[in-house]
Amino acid sequence: MALSDLIEKLELLKTKAEKVLKEAFDQASIEIFISEYLGKKSEIQNLFKTLKDLSPEEKKEAGPVINTLRDELQKKAFAKRDQLEQAALEEKLKTEWLDVTKNIPSEKGSLHPISHIQREIERIFTSMGFQIADGPMVETEWNNFDALNIESDHPARDMQDTFFVQNDGNDSQKNTVLRTHTSNIQIRTLKEQGAPLKIIAPGRVFRNEALDATHDAIFYQVEGMMVDKGINLSHLKGVIQVMLDGIFEKNIKTRIRPGYFPFVEPGLEIDIWWEYIDKDGVAQGKWLEFMGAGMIHPNVLTNGGVDPNEYSGFAFGFGLTRLAMMKYGIEDIRLLFSLKKDFLTQF
Ligand code: PHE
Repeated sequence: MALSDLIEKLELLKTKAEKVLKEAFDQASIEIFISEYLGKKSEIQNLFKTLKDLSPEEKKEAGPVINTLRDELQKKAFAKRDQLEQAALEEKLKTEWLDVTKNIPSEKGSLHPISHIQREIERIFTSMGFQIADGPMVETEWNNFDALNIESDHPARDMQDTFFVQNDGNDSQKNTVLRTHTSNIQIRTLKEQGAPLKIIAPGRVFRNEALDATHDAIFYQVEGMMVDKGINLSHLKGVIQVMLDGIFEKNIKTRIRPGYFPFVEPGLEIDIWWEYIDKDGVAQGKWLEFMGAGMIHPNVLTNGGVDPNEYSGFAFGFGLTRLAMMKYGIEDIRLLFSLKKDFLTQF
């Protein structure tokens, strides 16, 4: 290409580029301009390549002209980008501010349904003089299993698929698991508080379960325990009835059956009579398994440092996640942990 052609091309390019730049109205169009007019594949870069066809004198003349144009366009583009950024910021400051002394946002946060029902449960039990206990989610194998009469070769271990955190020997006081139930609290509170005691312990538990509409590997349980002189199953029945009637705000019918849990003797399953409207609009009812319970096994009291000849107590455990699903009519457990705002803010 001859020098004169090159100079002419540069003039044209300059006029075109300045027009485009002038018309750019947002940050995105500036970015496009920068890549199209200054980037590796831009016309200006191609013109640099044509320099090799010119004579040394012509090169000396043309080189600085291309350089100047490139620098100039670059400077203008960056300036325009700054200007647009500033304008965008000012616009934001004008529209996205909040006077907290005047405008209370109409969209308030809301409690997660699990938190909601947990608070309800806590309110009901504290009104009966129970305390709220807590404990770690990473628990020793001993507190989660052995101390509850579930030794390592006990078949009951198969009922709870366990996530082991640390498992490098036979010392169950050292091995750790993600607690498979809130019953780990039994040993902890017996040791810490001794008898008499009345506690509930809501919290997260973990099982190596396949995910479906009614199972998740992470869910919530509530453990309850009452230990004193002369405690028997009628105390358990009374306490559970108060809780159920309180949660569902009506009288709930219960059914007690024998059940097996190694840490209670006798062990029980408590079912509740569940009334619902089926998909054809017909009122129906059925028994639903609701909780495990029983009289605390003497070995467990002993492991917790409480004399079983002097004291007795009941314990129970139920799924808080399941209770929330029943109370609010939630059919799929996955919704609870879905972060779907429309769903979660209904409660
Ligand atoms: N921990 C038992 C479970 O997870 C429930 C339970 C608690 C049973 C206390 C009896 C007593 O299935």
